[in-house]
Amino acid sequence: MLHLASTLVLFLVAAGLWIRKKNPQWHQRLMVAAFSSDLLLVLYIEFTRHAVEKVVSRVRPLIWFHAAVSLAVLGCYVTMIALGRPMLAGRYETRALHRAVGITFVVLRSLNYVTSYMVT
Ligand code: HEM
Repeated sequence: MLHLASTLVLFLVAAGLWIRKKNPQWHQRLMVAAFSSDLLLVLYIEFTRHAVEKVVSRVRPLIWFHAAVSLAVLGCYVTMIALGRPMLAGRYETRALHRAVGITFVVLRSLNYVTSYMVT
């Protein structure tokens, strides 16, 4: 169930990337929807499975790696929103950084997805 939800978020991100030049407003909506879904997923996993306690109590490097990547993904979302908003207002000085953090985000979200199958 959670893997399915995570897969659907990847489709939201893919659709958001595909539409970025054609319709930046929809690019924003899809990425914010992906962010909200990922945030809800993390909160759901924490409240139902006490994920943080498991990470802290186990000495499994992969779990630590997965948890660190997942937190970095959430940080990237917030950064992307901050870097994207000026562009929607017509100021493009954040474009290069938005692109660079966007590429980092895609790598990290892919690592999060792959490692999610390895830690369960
Ligand atoms: C993790 C989420 C996001 C990713 C991975 C992402 C990725 C990208 C990429 C790769 C570009 C193309 C940059 C270029 O052509 O140089 C882009 C453009 C853009 N993004 Fe994002 N973005 C995200 C979230 C957002 C958000 C939340 C906003 C708005 C608040 C936003 C607003 C924009 C705008 C306005 C453009 C320029 C579109 C254009 O006129 O060509 N992005 N984004």
